[in-house]
Amino acid sequence: MSATDPGHIVDPRAFQDELLGWYDRHARALPWRIAPGSGERPDPYRIWLSEVMLQQTVVKAVIPYFEAFTSRWPTVEALAAAPDADILEAWAGLGYYARARNLIACARDVAALGGFPGTEAELRTLPGLGAYTAAAIAAIAFGQPATVVDGNIERVMARLFEVDTPLPAGKKILRAHAATLTPDQRPGDYAQALMDLGATVCRPKAALCLTCPVARLCKARGRDPERLPIKLPKAKKPERQGVAFWLECGGAVLLVRREDSGLLGGMRALPASGFTESGADRGDGAPVKADWQDTGHRVSHGFTHFNLTLTVLRAERPDRANLQGEWVPIAELDKAGLPTLFKKVVRAVRDSR
Ligand code: ADE
Repeated sequence: MSATDPGHIVDPRAFQDELLGWYDRHARALPWRIAPGSGERPDPYRIWLSEVMLQQTVVKAVIPYFEAFTSRWPTVEALAAAPDADILEAWAGLGYYARARNLIACARDVAALGGFPGTEAELRTLPGLGAYTAAAIAAIAFGQPATVVDGNIERVMARLFEVDTPLPAGKKILRAHAATLTPDQRPGDYAQALMDLGATVCRPKAALCLTCPVARLCKARGRDPERLPIKLPKAKKPERQGVAFWLECGGAVLLVRREDSGLLGGMRALPASGFTESGADRGDGAPVKADWQDTGHRVSHGFTHFNLTLTVLRAERPDRANLQGEWVPIAELDKAGLPTLFKKVVRAVRDSR
């Protein structure tokens, strides 16, 4: 089943025309998006920022972060000049802190270069920009005919060409098919049209084939398209255990900053043990020797590569002396820029007080 198999060709012109016509009528209004046909050029900074934010996060969740970042840091130079801690705190909740660290590194590289480079190959060399993001920025911000393939577009291609090779092995075939359809005209609108089609019409479980602008070109139409793409079962995530330490003094709680490298690197956090499959020793990672009491709270959180269950221990100190970290009033913990894992701990402890 190759892209040149005549049984699996989709007419590029017909596909592009139908899809772009549909996009002209139905494009979602998104804060980083230039409306189709407006003739304006998008700001590469806004396109880059939105694509990095959208790498692992859904559109709806990204919008408030995008608005907050662009009003606080309207240019890549402004972002590049901001202190790491401010950016990491504004990022908290978007998850995957390696992405925030790459965002900072990329902003500084781009500011030093005097602006974003305009080709897919150059974009690919910047921190945090993989094949997908580089292609998306090249197409949307610079009008380059780059082939953009994300999970949504893989799904569209798997159905359109009826590819039943399971993912991840099928990725190469899907990319080759996608490349046969990439237009020279309006590649940015075309890429975003495919993303919108995948998100709103060619949906994973309930495809809306009756409203699909390219249904007549789709090989899987009427043949149970939701079965595609076929995915090999994922390996189960390992389960890890850890301990978080809630140390209180006069209505404030001790927060620390995690080491730069590693999980949640550079983020503010409650003091915590390492996270291991065998579980931490209860004293491991405690900020101070104390009479640590089990709160009974078990906080679960899914990271990319493992699931974590945190045991939450609590102790009180009569004074604040001699401890590394910052004391933050309990009422202000919501504004401390904690990552989701520790926000969950705060919620659990506070709700039970
Ligand atoms: N998902 C990732 N990038 C997107 C974009 N530019 N528009 C809509 N959805 C997206």
